[in-house]
Amino acid sequence: MIHRGRDVPRRWRDQGNLPAAILGSDWGRRVVVAAASALALGAVAGSYAYAIEPRRLQVVRYRLGIAGLPHALNGVRIAHLTDFHVGMEGTRRSTLRRAVDRVCREGVDLAALTGDFTHEGVWNPDADLFRPLTKVCPTFAVLGNHDHLANEVATQGIVHRLRDQGVQVLRNQHADVPVRQGTGRILIVAVDDPRLGYDNLGRAMAGTPPTAEQDRPAILLGHVPDIVEQAPPGRFALTLAGHTHGGQLRFSPLKRFTPLEVPMIVGDLDSHYPRGTHVVRGNPLFVNNGLGVSGVPFRFMAPPQVAVFTLVPGVDEEKDIDDPERYFFEEK
Ligand SMILES: [Fe+2]
Repeated sequence: MIHRGRDVPRRWRDQGNLPAAILGSDWGRRVVVAAASALALGAVAGSYAYAIEPRRLQVVRYRLGIAGLPHALNGVRIAHLTDFHVGMEGTRRSTLRRAVDRVCREGVDLAALTGDFTHEGVWNPDADLFRPLTKVCPTFAVLGNHDHLANEVATQGIVHRLRDQGVQVLRNQHADVPVRQGTGRILIVAVDDPRLGYDNLGRAMAGTPPTAEQDRPAILLGHVPDIVEQAPPGRFALTLAGHTHGGQLRFSPLKRFTPLEVPMIVGDLDSHYPRGTHVVRGNPLFVNNGLGVSGVPFRFMAPPQVAVFTLVPGVDEEKDIDDPERYFFEEK
């Protein structure tokens, strides 16, 4: 029901000219101003989410505490990059190149890439990004669901092109990796994409010890964070994953995924571990925002991200075994 107060000019009321009556009233003007402000705010936020945030590369650094870490591994640095989505509108090639360049300049000992190199499962020459990285450190990769979207021949093409660049692609396999000129060793366990059911952690771990080894910490790589739930308790010093894009388009910093976030991410791609640090049954997990975009060409409150971990001996014994602060110490 339209309120026709005293402030509506009589001639408009009498003529039944409702739009004019609304605009002529105080409350009507307030509604119009509020709507215009909301539209302007939306336009500014949309422009930011399209043109600025996808380019606002964030480098996050953590010291990762590992109980009994041998002296040879103290200070070893591991970089994590994920979700490149080359070929998707809104993925910024310049952001991908800057991310690789930043990691090269960080002086890391090892790099991990956790999938979605392409957007539609077919190799794209713009994903020829990794030669500078593989020249400076051993670089390991697993595939994501988007790398499986076409067919197995196309997926094999992606694997071959990554290997051409020196990337060691592991599909439900593990690798014993020497670091610091072979003075230390790290075990990489890597599963193929869990989202579409290509993962087989049992096969990836076959032949590895069932419990954690202090002289050879193990790192689990998987595209989807929830793979950590399959890990034996306390087996991995670190699990690295992507897939969620940190929410990619968030409307609230408070909730895990807000009701307003795009349905694709709320439903289809949902994860119990949307971003940042977690611990699951004694297995520390980091979920990276990733670098490209998927579904919509926007990022909001989830900037493209590179993560660097420096291994240090010991954990914070005062914190509970499933408290991220027991293992992760953020560097500002
Ligand atoms: Fe992705």
